[in-house]
This record gives sequence, structure tokens and C-alpha cells, in this order.
Amino acid sequence: MQVVKEILNWYIQSGVTETIALEPSNRFSPASEQILLKKELSPPASMAISSVLPQIPADNLLQSASQTASQAQNLEQLKEALQNFEGCALKKTAKNTVFGQGNPNADVMFIGEAPGADEDRLGLPFVGASGQLLDKMMLAVGLSRQTNAYISNIIPWRPPGNRNPSNVEIALCMPFIQRHIELIAPKIIITLGSISFTSLINTTETISKARGVWHQYQTPNLSAPILLMPVFHPAFLLRTPAQKKNAWRDFLNISEKLNELKKA
Ligand code: URA
Repeated sequence: MQVVKEILNWYIQSGVTETIALEPSNRFSPASEQILLKKELSPPASMAISSVLPQIPADNLLQSASQTASQAQNLEQLKEALQNFEGCALKKTAKNTVFGQGNPNADVMFIGEAPGADEDRLGLPFVGASGQLLDKMMLAVGLSRQTNAYISNIIPWRPPGNRNPSNVEIALCMPFIQRHIELIAPKIIITLGSISFTSLINTTETISKARGVWHQYQTPNLSAPILLMPVFHPAFLLRTPAQKKNAWRDFLNISEKLNELKKA
């Protein structure tokens, strides 16, 4: 029993928080040893899941994502298109498609990276510990998802074990968040963390350098570029509280910009 506990602890410390095999297996029964031996000759179930999609050329999947997303004329259609899109393997292991939450007419749209375990369970963005910090930071400058802000993510499905999404996964989800931004048409976009920033603004700039600086986001369907500011991800701030003072500066800057835009 002690050994089992140690193995489980080792898995948890290594970042394994989900079991994603298609079927449970009793690894203590002599019969399962035979199955394991057989499985070593064929791909394990977890690989079988991710190998379903690469059989379709990536270009075709990207084209299908772009076509599907661009056809959506409103948020309901986009949500439905995303829920029906089978081109990204992350959907296979996620419990829910996390679309977005907030006022669709908001002037400001916050964009994070990808759902975590709590978001995956509830189907809503930023509802875990980092979401609670985000809510507090927003409230401090008069913003809230209940009234005047909108929140979404680059990736709508939780990557297993909260790993970083791959470049292919980001590329496949990009047409959807791009259309999402076009349909919300906010006055400003706030990207939370590095992945969200570098996915929307094609750059190698680090978040530490880029944070707090206004950038511009443009798509072929937007009549004018949208102001975009990268800020630290709230999960990073929870781990590095010394950076909260910089985040506070950025949020004051956001608030000033919103007031300025209202007056204009
Ligand atoms: N982190 C993110 O980037 N997005 C969420 O929705 C939750 C945590």
C-alpha cells in the first residue's frame, strides 16, 4: 500500500492530474501483465487518442478551422461551431468547451491561455484560484465580468495535466479566438500571460518587457486595429507576489485608457 501511495505521489509531483486511458486497467492482476506486454507492441490508448487527428494533414485541419470560424455570424454560432469542431485533439480529453463569459458589448476583452481543471469542470473561464485574483484586480479598477468586461481564452479545451498548448494546437484554435474578438469588437484587449500575448501578436518579445505597453491587434475583418496590452498572468502573480505592484500599474493604465476612450 505504501508503495502505491509513493507511486501516486510521484505521479502528482510530476504533474499528472488526469488519467486519460480509454479504459481502466488493473495493473496488479497477472492477466493485465499479458495485456501490458501486448500493448507494448501497439500504441498505448493515450497515444491512440492523439494519433487519430495527425492522420488528417495539418493544412486541411487549419483550413477547416478557418472556414468554420469565419462562417459564424454571431457568438451563438461561433460557440456551436467550436463545440462541433473535431480538429483539435485537446477536445478529446476535455470535459467541457470553455467559450467565454461576460458582457458581449464590453469595451474590454481579457484573453487567457487555456482552461485549468476548475474551468474544465464548470465550462467557464477563470473560475479557479487565478480567476479569483483576476476578478479582484478587475474590480479594483471598476471592471467585472458581470457588467462591463468579457473573458475568454486562446484555447477552449484544457490541455491534459495543464501542460502548455503546442504550436499546432494554438494554430488550430487561432481562427476561433480571432473570430471571437471580431464578434465582440472590444475597444481594448488585455492578454493574460505570455502564450496569449505571443499568439495574438506575432512576436518573440518576452512578457516582462512587453507588459504594460500598448500594442495593436489587427485581423483582415477588423476595420481598424484594436489596442492590446499584455499583462502578467494571474497564476504567475500568485506564485510571484512581488510582481503585483507592476500588475497594479498596468491595471491603472488600462483604466485610464478606458476613460480616455469613453471621452473621445
Ligand atoms: N488560466 C487561463 O489562462 N485561463 C483560464 O481560464 C484559467 C486559468
